Amino acid sequence: VLVFLLACTKSTPPASSAAKVELPDLRDEMEDHFYRALQLQLAVIGGDLPAAQAAAGTLATDLATGTFPEAWKPFVDEAAKIATRAAAATSISEAATALGDLSATCADCHTATGGGLEGATRDPVPHEHMARHLYGAYWMGYGLIAPDERAWHDGARALGSAPIGADAPALRHVDARLHDLAARGAPMTDPHERAALWGELLVVCAECHSTLEGPR
Ligand code: HEC
Ligand code: HEC
Repeated sequence: VLVFLLACTKSTPPASSAAKVELPDLRDEMEDHFYRALQLQLAVIGGDLPAAQAAAGTLATDLATGTFPEAWKPFVDEAAKIATRAAAATSISEAATALGDLSATCADCHTATGGGLEGATRDPVPHEHMARHLYGAYWMGYGLIAPDERAWHDGARALGSAPIGADAPALRHVDARLHDLAARGAPMTDPHERAALWGELLVVCAECHSTLEGPR
């Protein structure tokens, strides 16, 4: 069945075919991956390169020592390779691009295996400007990785429709660029297009934060 699965990875087998495969319970391991990827995301948003490198390095090690079935090795190897690239990033933009690519690889394997995330409940969209930014970025990332169409779309809409904030008067144009990018992402369905846009968007968060606060 695994050979069958591998042969079908490009054609997206229905979840029921994956459910028949005997698997180790991957949930704890996967939650660690998600947590590390989230740490990487927050480091990028904050413009904190050393923290981004550290989170990516831990993720690369975790992926290299995982307990995946042999047939899924290509996905794991690809994910580990990208995490290693993120750990060696020399700029926030490189780290963000790697995080996007990595997340698309998570999504590709989830689609191929019928695994992934489901059932998370979303709170209502917050009003406060930065809380709304974080809400949008988080749910776009979740939607990309899961993959979850509604989470991606709703996250992008929440961010794309945010009013320009009063918290950074000199950087209103940066805020507008951020909201425009998110609005452009809302209708996207291809994980690799989503990944590229999301990575670009996180760099805009970092751009504003590091302009305001200086490098950390
Ligand atoms: C080799 C394939 C593969 C790769 C690569 C992969 N996943 Fe998964 N993921 C799975 C499978 C299969 C499941 C379902 C596991 C289960 O139910 O035991 C899953 C489930 C999950 C879950 C839900 C866990 C739960 O408690 O139900 C999360 C979170 C997750 N993955 C995150 C990630 C992240 C983040 C990445 C990328 C860094 C990633 N995964 C990469 C195959 C993969
Ligand atoms: C136009 C400039 C600008 C952009 C773009 C921007 N931020 Fe911020 N951010 C700020 C300022 C100013 C603060 C500090 C003041 C505050 O907390 O509101 C801040 C603080 C934060 C905080 C800490 C919030 C708190 O209440 O302590 C988070 C989280 C945050 N931003 C998330 C994001 C995310 C996620 C993005 C990108 C999706 C983003 N920001 C983009 C200007 C920006």
